[in-house]
Amino acid sequence: MNDVDVVVVGAGVTGLTAAVRLREAGLDVVVLEARDRVGGRLLTETVDGVRLEIGGQWVSPDQTALLAMIDELGLTTYPRYRSGESVYIGRDGVRKTFHGDAFPVPAETAVEIKRVAAELDRLAAQMDPLVPWDHPLAVELDQMSFAHWLSSQTSDQEARDNIGLYIGPAMLTKPAHTFSALSAVLMAASAGGFAHLLDADFILDRRVDGGLQEVPLRLAARLEGLVRLSTPVDQISWDGTSAVAGGYRARHVVLAVPPTLVNRIRFAPALPPVQAQMRQHQSFGLVVKLHITYETPFWREEGLSGTAFSPYALVHEAYDNSNEDVAGDDRGILVGFVSDVRADALLALDAGTRREEVLTSLAAYYGPGALSPVAYYESPWQSDEWTAGAFGTSFDIGSLTRYGRHLRTPVGPLSFVSSDVAGLGFQHVDGAIRMGEAAAAAIVEQR
Ligand code: FDA
Repeated sequence: MNDVDVVVVGAGVTGLTAAVRLREAGLDVVVLEARDRVGGRLLTETVDGVRLEIGGQWVSPDQTALLAMIDELGLTTYPRYRSGESVYIGRDGVRKTFHGDAFPVPAETAVEIKRVAAELDRLAAQMDPLVPWDHPLAVELDQMSFAHWLSSQTSDQEARDNIGLYIGPAMLTKPAHTFSALSAVLMAASAGGFAHLLDADFILDRRVDGGLQEVPLRLAARLEGLVRLSTPVDQISWDGTSAVAGGYRARHVVLAVPPTLVNRIRFAPALPPVQAQMRQHQSFGLVVKLHITYETPFWREEGLSGTAFSPYALVHEAYDNSNEDVAGDDRGILVGFVSDVRADALLALDAGTRREEVLTSLAAYYGPGALSPVAYYESPWQSDEWTAGAFGTSFDIGSLTRYGRHLRTPVGPLSFVSSDVAGLGFQHVDGAIRMGEAAAAAIVEQR
């Protein structure tokens, strides 16, 4: 048995940030990681000769913890390609092009989108995303689905479908009837306001040169061999003062894994009932991230930015994701997303039919050129046992107020963190860094 001050379980950004900060404070740390690589939900990989961001990739200006980390690690960023017109397909099925973030919807729908968005922003401004259960309307909002809340706000179907898209399929990656209005407000508050989520140029602003996985790779490099790969932790025994995990005895164990995976570990003694109950009410959303590569970014020649949206299309959003940072790579890459119930249906098809359906959906935005890619890839997070969904986890209806205050409560020597329990940066890398730093600070304070 090896003795250390802290065992960190999970070498995603949360765990690696915690480990680096603990080490800087002079503590003896080891990181145990189930996979044979670091980065968790961040993976920059070359597939069929194309460098892809299989997991997280974008950075927005409000993500100050991530931006500071990017600076600290000596990384640089570049803006997402966005010159030209965007495409929108509305309820009437008609394809329209537009500039800016206001969709070309009927005038009365535009008024309703603006009004309901302002109401969401007002609710978000009343919330500290670290403690959403303290919102003045927390119980009322947590007891109704977001779909129900939207119906209570406007009778305009296209306005509901658009606002619903931004929080449902595009963010929590669940249908709007399966999570609460409070969870929707939390999503908005954690991004600094709903207006930010509506503005693709803000929320999907920049990319990291070399890929976002450079963040965990460089954090791991700072740990100089203290990360043990291919070391899944399946059992933790603990008492009031220490814990044993993966052959290490430590005064603290930081479980830097998604809440759904905490439940896969056997604890001896068992965790208090509220802990086990709570995590049965948190679940991953489902979204298939698609990477489609073309000989050239042909849409640019037609004056298109590559940005496309439709609450009514299989691929509900898509962007130009060409690798501007790779010298000499002139290929055009589109990234698209198929979410929740549409993802269920897509994943039930065979590979050839899936590809055909996706390309047909893209052709409705970009024209027939979209039907002839040189490479096609679907990120497989839903079938990866160390994630099992995307992008992150969220609570079912009523559970944020019922359990939320236990989310970050340590149990004896055990603490539980990941981007899924963050306030600012919830479900994002920014939140992972904030949670990793907070976990480390709490341990250092107890020294
Ligand atoms: P993460 O899940 O990354 O790490 C947990 C680690 O623990 C994993 O390495 C896992 O293998 C390990 N583990 C689990 N159980 C274990 C056990 N029992 N023993 C040992 N190890 C164990 N964010 C963003 O900011 N911008 C974006 O553009 C996107 N886009 C995006 C797209 C897709 C497809 C996905 C899947 C996700 C995103 N995200 C994102 C979200 C972002 O990637 C995510 O919030 C963080 O990377 C989560 O980091 P954590 O370290 O909290 O968890």
